[in-house]
Parts: sequence; structure tokens; C-alpha cells
Amino acid sequence: MPASAPATPPPGAARTAAPTDLVVFGGTGDLAMRKLLPALLLCEKDGRLAPSTRIVAVSRDGIGDADYRGKAEAAVADNPSVLRAGAVPEPVLRRFLDRLHHVPLDLDEPGDGWERLESLLGQAPAQDGAERGRVYYLAVPPMLFGRICADLQAHGLAEGASRVVLEKPLGRDLRSAREINDAVGAVFSERRTFRIDHYLGKETVQNLLALRFANMFLEPVWNSRWIDNVQITAAETVGVGTRHGYYDRAGAMRDMVQNHLLQLLCLIAMEPPASFDREAVRDEKVKVLQSLAPLTGQDALRDTARGQYAPGTAGGRPVPGYTGEPGADGASSTETFVALEASVANWRWAGVPFYLRTGKRMARRYSEIVVQFRDVPHPIFPGQGAGGTPNRLVIRLQPEETIRLHMLAKEPGAGELRLRPAPLELSLSDRFAVRSPDAYERLLMDVMAGDPTLFMRRDEVETAWRWVDPIIDAWQGTDPEPYAPGGTGPQGAHDLLARTGRTWHEGDMT
Ligand code: BG6
Repeated sequence: MPASAPATPPPGAARTAAPTDLVVFGGTGDLAMRKLLPALLLCEKDGRLAPSTRIVAVSRDGIGDADYRGKAEAAVADNPSVLRAGAVPEPVLRRFLDRLHHVPLDLDEPGDGWERLESLLGQAPAQDGAERGRVYYLAVPPMLFGRICADLQAHGLAEGASRVVLEKPLGRDLRSAREINDAVGAVFSERRTFRIDHYLGKETVQNLLALRFANMFLEPVWNSRWIDNVQITAAETVGVGTRHGYYDRAGAMRDMVQNHLLQLLCLIAMEPPASFDREAVRDEKVKVLQSLAPLTGQDALRDTARGQYAPGTAGGRPVPGYTGEPGADGASSTETFVALEASVANWRWAGVPFYLRTGKRMARRYSEIVVQFRDVPHPIFPGQGAGGTPNRLVIRLQPEETIRLHMLAKEPGAGELRLRPAPLELSLSDRFAVRSPDAYERLLMDVMAGDPTLFMRRDEVETAWRWVDPIIDAWQGTDPEPYAPGGTGPQGAHDLLARTGRTWHEGDMT
């Protein structure tokens, strides 16, 4: 190797993004404060932000840079992801805060807001030796996406290589998603549009791709011949909190299933892509969405369960029901829980139910994927077969990041041969003694690097809506089933599996 060649980075080393102006619309909002700023601070701590990168928050608040920096400092101080990653040295925090700017801009009454943004972006700091990128992150309700893009264009700010990041949910049905995509697409080409689904940024989700496509042993058994069913659960202990305004119009189906859960289903069910390439991976995912058997009318009612949390106690304290949360105004038929049975109608998966489930105010917070294998054809050991086969692969996305293969082994001893469950486990944190980045860290770095592999393409989002819309239509005029907080959701979710003699796997760590 010539002496001047750059050193090969160690495996897993994070890349440093090109110098970028990251403009966050909704810069004082919940997402920016709870997720984006903490993630960016952690990128700073790891030395992944170029020295001249700036973070420009745009919001209606009439505050200046100093006040915004104060707000940001308070927000990151007690952020769980930041705390988990250990102390942030004071100089790192100062360097990060110095990158922050705030531009007051009310879209309805912009005053000189756009000019101020233009002028700030026009004063690019000294370069770090690479081409300067610009990213607009729209952390605002989706009905504003098209309008902000049009305004950016009108002010000459959408030129060149600038990119736009769209937060989910993208619209509330296929029609609105298309309208939004058209409006954004009139300004930013598909290559410059990054639709975020933060589940794709989670370490274990990416590991799922590695597990499936970097290893040979799973592929032969990854089909309906060996697999009985797949269960995907994203359970949360929290209620809707202060997000009632947004959530009541969305519900669990639009908030979690249409995006996060269907994306996980795609990664489990997709065919091996020809390369780990932005289009190859997304092409395969979209084929899975296209293969989902439609659920309409009575079929949709039969194969789904929806619930809404009732008042009760959770974690030993009284909690309000969904309709008693701050901002609620009495009756609402919005679901806070969904369970459903989906079928991927293709050669690989015909006859394998994919059970999806998500809910708020459940017993514990965890997300996991369970791939349940079939029973042995002919049990020969005493007691074998009672309670079903233990062979399942459990991919835990959070709070732990583990991959566990459940098997049976012989209990040591000279007496009667007894079988005992003995899981093989890979704990990512124990195995690799490096901190797992938060999903937003990874995705923000990918946007700055211009890598859309882990972002949703337009056709993916629209195909997902095409499948989800008829289910939501079928629910019209029905009420969600109440469920007690701190439990496993409504009875209907259990009935959904019981009709074929199956049960939900209630989490390995229970
Ligand atoms: C968001 C939803 O996309 O995901 C929230 O809007 C939900 O309602 C959150 O709480 C869950 O994310 P995570 O990473 O905590 O599982």
C-alpha cells in the first residue's frame, strides 16, 4: 500500500459525514427535541460531524440562536439515549451547541423568515475540503410537506444536490400519500427524497439482513416447509401522552403497522437481493408488499383485532384510559392496539401466517420477531411434543438486542432421558463491546452521505397503503375492543391465533 493511502477504517467504524447544512422544519417540536438533537449530539461525540456542519432549526417560535441552544441543551441533558451513551464531555457539548441556529418562520405569515433562512444558508462557513451538502428534514405534519417543498423552490433553496427527509406517516391513505409524493416529487427527485422509517435504522433490524443473507444455514429452512408461523410484536408501555391530537387521527394502524411492522415483515419475507444496493434491497421489499393477500370487508374483520386501552393501573399506578388522556374529548373509536394475520401469497410463504401486533399501554416494552418452526414429524422422546415445538428463532430488537435460537437438549444425568429447553443466544452488546447507535444516528448519517438503502421508496409506501386502506375501511362503524392497561391486549388478539390452535409468544424475557 502506498504510504499516502488512507488507513482502512477498523470494522464497524462510523463514517464522517460531508459538511452539511441540516435544516430541520419543526425544529422545536417533539421529534427534534427527543430524537434528532440527541442523535446528532451522539454523532458529534463520536466525531462523525464535519467541523463546518450546521444544524438550522426552523419553527414558528420567535426565538434566537441563544434561546434555541438553551432549549436544546435542556432537551439533551436528560435524554435517555444520551444518558445511556455515558457522559458527554463539556467541550463536545459546547461544540455541538455552537452548530445550532434558529430561524423563526411561520408558513402562513412568513414575514422575512424565508429571507433570513436564505441569508443564513448563503453564508456557508469555510469548507472542510468536501462538497457542502444540504438536507431539509421535515419534522412536521405530512400535509405541510408539499407546501414547504414548493416554498423552498420558490426561494431558490431547493437547487443543486439538496435532499429532503420526510417523517412518517406519509399521508393517511393511498390517495393522500400520492398527493404528497407528487407535490414533493415536483421539487425533489426520488433520488433526493428520503422517507424515514426509524425502525430500519435499528441495529438488530439491519442485523436481520446480515443474519439472513450473510449466512447459508438459514436459507434452506426459510420457507413454508419448515416454518409454521411468524410473529412480529412491537409493544409499548406508554400511552399516547401529549400526542393525542396527532394520534387520534392516526391510530395504531397508521402509526405503526403501515410502516414499522410491514417493513419488518418485508425483511423477514423478502428474497435475497442481488446486492446490498439501494435499489436491489428496496425492489425485493416492494415485491413482498405486492404479494400480501388483500384483506377486505368481512375477511378484514375476521383476520384483525383492534383495541383501545381502558383506564386501570400500569406499573402500580393508576392510568387514564385513551379517552381520558390530555387533549381527548370523550368518545373516540381510534385504536391503540392492532393484531392481524397477514398472508404473503407466493411460493416461499404460501400457508404461513404472519401475525403482526402492536399496542400502547402493554405489560412491557419490547419489539421482537419470532420465527416459529414446525413440529418434528414424529416425536421419539418422553414428553416431547407436549406444548408444541420449542424450535423458534427470536430476534429481539429492543430493549435488548439479541438473537436467540430455541432448541431442546438432553438434561445431563444417567437417569431417564429428559429434554430441556436450551437456547443458543447472541447478545450483540456482549459480543461486540461497542455502543449500538440509536436508529436516528444511523439514518441521519446515511442522509448526509446520500445513501437511501434504509429509506422507503415511493412505491413501497404506496403499496403499503394499498394493502392497509381496505382494512381501515372495513373497520368503519366498528368500535375497538377495550383492554386493560399493563396486559397483553384485547381478547380478540388471542382469539385470532387460538382459532388455529396457536398462541402468541409473549416475549422471551417475561
Ligand atoms: C413512532 C410512533 O413512529 O414509533 C410512536 O409514532 C411510537 O407512536 C414509536 O411510540 C415507537 O418507536 P420505538 O423506537 O420506541 O419502538
